[in-house]
Amino acid sequence: MAVRYLVTSALPYANGPLHLGHLAGAYLPADTYVRFLRMRGEDVIYVCGTDEHGVPITITAEKQGRTPREVVDEYHETIHREFEAFGISFDNFSRTSLPTHHEFAQKVFLDLLGKDLIVERTMSQLFCPRCSRFLPDRYVNGTCPKCGAPGARGDLCESCGSWLEALELAEPTCSICGETPSPRDTTHWFLRLDAFSDWLREWLPAREGWRDNVLNYCRGWLDEGLQERAITRDIDWGVPVPLPEAAGKVLYVWFEALLGYVSSTRELFEKRGNPDEWLNWWKSPDTRLIHFIGKDNIVFHAIIEPAILRGLGGFALPWNIPANEFLNISGQKQSTSRGTAVWMGEYLKRFPPDPMRYTLSINAPEGRDSDFTWAEFRVRNNELADVLGNFVNRTMSFAFREFGGTVPESGAPGERETALTEAALAAGRSIGDLLGSFRFKAACAEAMALAREGNRYFDSSEPWRTARTSRDDCARTIRFSLEFIGWLRLVFSPFLPFSCEKMGRMLGVSGGSWDGIGKVSLVTGSRLGAPEILFEKLPEGFEEDGHANGPVESAPAASEILAAARIPFDDFKRLDLRVGRILSAEPVPKADKLLAMSVDVGEPSPRTIVAGLRQWYKPEEMAGRLVVVVTNLEPARIRGVESDGMVLASDGESGVFVIGPDPSARPGDKVR
Ligand code: MF3
Ligand code: ZN
Repeated sequence: MAVRYLVTSALPYANGPLHLGHLAGAYLPADTYVRFLRMRGEDVIYVCGTDEHGVPITITAEKQGRTPREVVDEYHETIHREFEAFGISFDNFSRTSLPTHHEFAQKVFLDLLGKDLIVERTMSQLFCPRCSRFLPDRYVNGTCPKCGAPGARGDLCESCGSWLEALELAEPTCSICGETPSPRDTTHWFLRLDAFSDWLREWLPAREGWRDNVLNYCRGWLDEGLQERAITRDIDWGVPVPLPEAAGKVLYVWFEALLGYVSSTRELFEKRGNPDEWLNWWKSPDTRLIHFIGKDNIVFHAIIEPAILRGLGGFALPWNIPANEFLNISGQKQSTSRGTAVWMGEYLKRFPPDPMRYTLSINAPEGRDSDFTWAEFRVRNNELADVLGNFVNRTMSFAFREFGGTVPESGAPGERETALTEAALAAGRSIGDLLGSFRFKAACAEAMALAREGNRYFDSSEPWRTARTSRDDCARTIRFSLEFIGWLRLVFSPFLPFSCEKMGRMLGVSGGSWDGIGKVSLVTGSRLGAPEILFEKLPEGFEEDGHANGPVESAPAASEILAAARIPFDDFKRLDLRVGRILSAEPVPKADKLLAMSVDVGEPSPRTIVAGLRQWYKPEEMAGRLVVVVTNLEPARIRGVESDGMVLASDGESGVFVIGPDPSARPGDKVR
């Protein structure tokens, strides 16, 4: 049977919104990967869901004065919606509070209990006398016994990443009331991790293609020796322990949440009306189970889950666990309490998803922590506009201006075309290899390098010249550039799904397989869709004044205004001023001051306008800008190019700057 890919991302706790660190760590790379696999025609499912139990939820609920149910209902919705807005393409996004999951987790518990892999023990646990309750996990604060950092919690030290037991903490305090708790005996059920020690020692080092950070972490764990771990807790929110003598106890959230991947798969196939199909995924030797997680989750996915699945028997084990390091913000750890996190939802209110997907892919925290800054975001956003956006814009505007918005006949490819085709084929192979081995950062950089090749090809083919000297040459360049947009669309689809959809609309194509990269696919004479702007550039400093986008304004000098002769209003009314959008700009050959721009003023096809802006703007800076155009001037021939209109600009001591309408204005809007 053919290989199947069962891809998961860590189930986020439904106790708050997610930030960019979450996105970059476990979701964006997984989505990029599955989009790529789907394009390769692989059998793949991508499952996730919210982690809705445990102390992280109950503590949040207590803080907010709400019930755990209210908390998880709200954040399940928020998290799911924001993932969708970022294009994270789960096949199923489930919840661990669903009955399917409860039943399955309880079955697993009983199965392992029956095999003596789960055993009952009396243990001593911290009890708060003032709250008169046992204090599991995060209900205890204290000093980490491993690294000495204060502020460790009863389950985890965030400073050194150690997985702790509350009893190990030095100077413990109750996180509800601050009292010092003391140990008391109670009964819990333990997972016999020690029983898997020998097997894990063989299995883990033999994993091929696993990242060093994952293997190193595991080695550390195995070296310390695996011990029995309590997998039940004294709280009332969670999956009840399915034993009469365990009333009031629930399964430890980590134990059952890991099973959420299976439950989400079961739910997926229940929804598809094929309830037994999950077995073909989870209980097949042909399944490649891949967990995308952040580094704080390594032990659970690389040690605990394999132990559970092995204990159950017959289950697929993780094929790879491409765990990421952390994404910092301006050099600081993303932290809710310190307010340094950038929330996915906040970002989405201001910007489209693709520029962030690109920024986080090309700076992926793969081998080590990476740092996010808004300045870096601007640079990456503008790189998209200048390289990919510009190539698409200039090609489309030529196709409309010279070939009526259809795919021109190409003729035989020349040397340049052959070389670029080779480059695309090679890039398709190499990016495919990188994606297949979870190297997203490098893959993304190569995709952008290919787009740069496109611009180089366009420049060296000089279609603005051949448009007048050789129609055939011009047609070949534009046809080939259109094909190249089609290849870039495929190459970028895993990274920039929204922009690639726009590119598809412009070319009149959809779908497409990874094999299509480098292969001619457009139909001569077919109609192109209307040019769309892919990326809006961001001005320097946008992050300081909180401006989402928009041109930088410059203040006009005002000395001669009073002296100017007055004209009647009717004279002014004779001007037809319109909002225009520059689709592309090219230098006018042999004229060092002039730019020839293709400008959409709301008419069926764009106009060519020549202006003396070359000293002030790079051609690639012009594409996408909104400007004000005088549309009813008599056309003029300027250096051999027919210019049909005038772009308004300020002209003062500081330079010449085009006048930019508010970003909400549309091409064709009247200016009065
Ligand atoms: N909710 C956990 C976290 O946010 C991750 C759980 S992953 C699972 O760190 F596999 F256990 F579900
Ligand atoms: Zn207390």
